[in-house]
Amino acid sequence: MPEISNQTPKTLVVSGASRGLGRHICARAVEEGWNVIGLARNVEPLAGVHMIACDVGDFAQVEAAFREVKKLAKGSFYGLINAAGIASMNLFVLTPYTTMDRIVRVNLLGTMYCSQQGGKLLARQREGRIINFSTLAHSIALKGEAVYAASKGGVESFSRTFAREMGDHGVTVNCVSPGPVDTDLIAKVPDSNIRMIVGHQIIQRKAVAEDVWDAVSLLLSPAAKLITGDVLHIGGV
Ligand SMILES: NC(=O)c1ccc[n+]([C@@H]2O[C@H](COP(=O)([O-])OP(=O)(O)OC[C@H]3O[C@@H](n4cnc5c(N)ncnc54)[C@H](OP(=O)(O)O)[C@@H]3O)[C@@H](O)[C@H]2O)c1
Repeated sequence: MPEISNQTPKTLVVSGASRGLGRHICARAVEEGWNVIGLARNVEPLAGVHMIACDVGDFAQVEAAFREVKKLAKGSFYGLINAAGIASMNLFVLTPYTTMDRIVRVNLLGTMYCSQQGGKLLARQREGRIINFSTLAHSIALKGEAVYAASKGGVESFSRTFAREMGDHGVTVNCVSPGPVDTDLIAKVPDSNIRMIVGHQIIQRKAVAEDVWDAVSLLLSPAAKLITGDVLHIGGV
């Protein structure tokens, strides 16, 4: 496990814990000895993970979830990984406003709600890591993903400013920005679009969930103590 500031197991809170990258991060973090609390709307049991049902786009549910986190972690809360996210592939003029609302609510507001509630707890403990999820689709302005990319651009901008506010409290805030990884999120994205994103990467291969865990794990490690306000592009852009 990444060496952390003392020997007692620390607690990670991971949103998007029911599927995809969030679930992989939960499973790997358990293997590495972390206490793990997972958030998702659908509570899918996973060995070693305490799941809390929570819609991250609903502020009251996020507040309630972090009250539970505070009780469960008993001062050991160290890392918040905001992996919950949704996407929809559509030309912007054809995108229903309800879809725009949903994407911005979950990806941007959900990240902010969890960061605010989690950040307060971490600041009190004067140490911690917040890791938010962006996407390479934002960096390359991928056609058909205007709303999704904008929500993630918002996440990057929010993370930079929040990092400044949290620096004096011993808490770093960064983003990881993966290219395509096979999960439900991209199951309906045409192969041509996937190839286009991978073609923009410096290292032109599709990432796997373990590559994302490696980036997250690096940011959780003591070696990353001065890395903050940054975006780690997985595959490079
Ligand atoms: N896969 C990729 O290619 C890729 C590339 C770049 C960035 N990303 C980012 O990586 C993150 C994880 O994506 P993924 O590929 O793992 O997606 P995924 O397989 O579709 O899983 C999404 C997760 O987010 C949760 N979620 C969705 N809406 C939620 C809500 N309102 N409240 C709480 N949880 C919610 C889902 O749980 P429930 O449905 O149970 O709530 C699920 O656990 C996202 O932020 C995504 O934008 C993914």
